[in-house]
Parts: sequence; C-alpha cells; structure tokens
Amino acid sequence: MNDRKGFGSNFGFLMAAVGSAVGLGNIWGFPNKMGANGGFPFLILYLALALCCGVIIMLGELALGRKTGHGAVGAYQSISKRFKWLGWLGIAAAALIFSFYSALGGYCLRYVVVNFGNLIGAEFGTNGVGGADVFQGLLSQPDVSIAFALAFMLITMLVVMSGVGGGIERVCSVGMPALFFILIICIIRSCTLPGAADGLKYMFVPGWAVANGIIDEAPGFWRVLTAAGGQMFFSLSLGAGVMITYGSYVKKDVNLSRSLSQIELFDTGVAFLAGLMIIPAVFVFSGMDGMSSGPSLMFVSLPKVFASMGVAGPVIGLVFFVMVAFAALTSCISIMETLVANCMEIFHQSRKAMSLTVGVLATAAAVVVCLGYNVFYFELTLPSGATAQILDLMDYISNSFLMPFISFLTCIFVGWVIKPQWIIEEMEASGHTFGRKKLYAFMIRYVTPVIMAVLFLQSAGVFNLVQELF
Ligand code: PFF
Repeated sequence: MNDRKGFGSNFGFLMAAVGSAVGLGNIWGFPNKMGANGGFPFLILYLALALCCGVIIMLGELALGRKTGHGAVGAYQSISKRFKWLGWLGIAAAALIFSFYSALGGYCLRYVVVNFGNLIGAEFGTNGVGGADVFQGLLSQPDVSIAFALAFMLITMLVVMSGVGGGIERVCSVGMPALFFILIICIIRSCTLPGAADGLKYMFVPGWAVANGIIDEAPGFWRVLTAAGGQMFFSLSLGAGVMITYGSYVKKDVNLSRSLSQIELFDTGVAFLAGLMIIPAVFVFSGMDGMSSGPSLMFVSLPKVFASMGVAGPVIGLVFFVMVAFAALTSCISIMETLVANCMEIFHQSRKAMSLTVGVLATAAAVVVCLGYNVFYFELTLPSGATAQILDLMDYISNSFLMPFISFLTCIFVGWVIKPQWIIEEMEASGHTFGRKKLYAFMIRYVTPVIMAVLFLQSAGVFNLVQELF
C-alpha cells in the first residue's frame, strides 16, 4: 500500500527512533528512579543492563522489522505462523502504554499552559498556589485532565496521519536536536546552584549517601535491579513492537549497527543529562524528600525549583515543560504509529482510517486513566509492595510484566528458533561488516535471555512468593 512509505533519510530514521526512546521515561522516570534507588548503584546497574540487554534486544527488533518489511504482527507471522501471537503481545503492550502515556502527555501540556500563564502573569498561571495543590487540582478535576489528554492525542494523531516521512520524520528531526540544546541550558542552571554538589555526589560517589546520612541504608540489590530493568525496557521502547515497526521503514543501505549505537547513546545520554539537571536542583530545594516517587517529582518538586529561581523561574519552567511535552509527543507518536501501521497491514485499511480508529479507541482508554484519580479511584497493592491506581497498574503490567516477558521470548525466538545468523545477515545486508557478531550470538543465546527471565520473575513477584513459601 502506498501509505506505507519509509523514512526519507538515515538522519530522519535516527531522529524518529531517538524520538521514540527519549521521552518521559528519560526526563522524569530516570532521575526519579535513580533518586529513589540510591543514586549511584542504580546508575551502574542501568548502564550494565542497557549494554548487556538493551543493545541486544533492540538490534534484534530493528533487524526483524527491516528484513521482513512488516510491523510486529506481520514480521513474526512472515517468519513463523506459530509466533504471530508474540507480535500481538507487543501490540497489547503498546496499546496499554498508549492509554496512560497520552494522559501523562496531557498533564505536560497543562503544565506548559500553567507556566506560560506564570510567565505573562495571567490568571491561568499558578497564582501563588503551591505546586502540590496545583497538581492535586489537576488530578481531582477530570474535565481539565481529560481536555488536555484529548488535545495531546489530537496532535499525535495529526502527525501520524501525515505519514512517516512527512509527519514523524520532520517533527523529530527538528525537535530532538532542540531538546538536547534546551537540556544543556537547564543543566548549566541547575549545576551552578549553591549546594548542587550534594546532588552530584549522590549520583556519582559510591556509598556517599549512606555515609552522610542522606539515606539510612543502601537499597537492596534486587530492588535496584528491578527498577533499573523496568526503566531500561521503557526508556528504550523495547518489547512493544515499536522498533520492529520503525525498522521496517529503514532503507537497506543504512548501517543498522551504527544507528543502533547512536540511538542507545542518545537515549542513555539524555537520561543521564536529565539526572544531572533534576537531581542537583531538587536536592538544593527539597532535599531527599523532593525525590519522592511517582508524578510528584516532575509536577510538584520541580515547579518548586522553578518558583525559587526568581525572575528566571517562569522562563525556565516554561522551557522545561515545552521540552518535556515535546519529548512525550515524539514517544507517543511512535506508539501510535506502531498501532496504526499494524492495523493497516492486518485490516488492509488506509492510514487515515486506521489513525482515526486507533485515535478514538485510545482516547476512550486515556479518559478512563484520567478518571482513575477521581471517579474510578481505588488502591491496589502490587507484587512490589507499591500502591497502585489505574495508571500505575497499566504502567506495571506493561513495564514490569509484558516488556520483560516479550523481550525474553524475543531472545528465545532470535537465539534458538531463527538463530543469530539470520539477524547477522541483515546487519550486513547494507555492505557494512558487523564487527561484534560472535559476541552478539553468544549474548542473545545465553546471557540476555537469562537476565530477562530473572527480571521477569522478580518483577512478577515470583521470587518473593518462593521466599515466603520456604
Ligand atoms: N521510551 C519512551 C520514554 O522513555 O518515555 C516510552 C515508550 C515509547 C515506551 C514507546 C514504549 C514504547 F513502545
């Protein structure tokens, strides 16, 4: 179908894939999880997992997409009908993420408007109301959160409707470099604040936090490992069919191995930079309490930081939330594109028709998520011990359950069913040699699946259950 045109340039593909990977997971999730999991130990485990697992899985997904020329469902089906369901599982993960991601994207848009109000002193700014109250107000007013989620969804839909080369590639090619630039400015401001050094020590000096009484004891290995694992899947957009779909749009002459290194580097780099921006600043203004988990870090603690920056505060606040909303948009676009592209293939419909259908269904789901904090409020205890509402539950199912499970199965599929040589041939189809092929084959067969299985069992609470039984 003519609707299925690919990326026009290598740079466009790179920016679209980076746009998918870089999002709320980097700017908010990474600093938040690092803050809540002892700083330095989290950083080290995250980097180790990204290297041993993230690279390996993403490589398989991109190659599967490019070699078959299909989205997730079609890619698995074209290789083996028995594995078609694995593609569907990825689509299920993408659909779940889409519903809560667009609700969060709506929150970001709302904060862009509030910060703009602060900048021009308008009534729709915070008007002296504290950060916690503004956020609570947003959560308790379903009409406001729904309106912004709808607006966010509409923008996403318009870009996806414009197609891969016209919409997605163009938006990401301008936005991603701009985001990088804005991040650097915010870091300079944050790291030059008096007292910022403590935040930097928390991030980079092993044992500093415990030795200085910032935290009572170092968090346990398993807790940090699970947090770092969940963060890796989400941040690199793994196990949700996105990289298979984007891979299917990549031209044959593109050096996939090099693109892969660049995507990983960008994604980890932005997460790291976001940590450098947020942790020192929150440490200065709110101490360890400001690092509290959940949305409050970005929507409560950070506005406090901006509010105490004097005249520069409203400008930096606005720039920051524009940047976050944009990063969320490019990630949301990739999820919607995955759903739309797969539906186009499966139902043989046009891009426009499928974008509208997916958009309407996802909007309904996003409305339910927005209502989860008020009309449908409940409290559920997750296997990790955390208390969850609808959004947390969806986040848990996709992030800690489906993504490691799908990634584990992908490793088994690539390592033992189609065999690593299948992927290696695709990596070399562009005429470039794939230098680390022996290492890759070893990792995908023996190392990565074991780590995936451990992560999955741990986050599903199986290890805890076994411990309780014996
Ligand atoms: N990688 C995105 C982030 O870090 O915010 C989120 C994401 C996008 C997850 C696409 C999964 C996905 F398929």
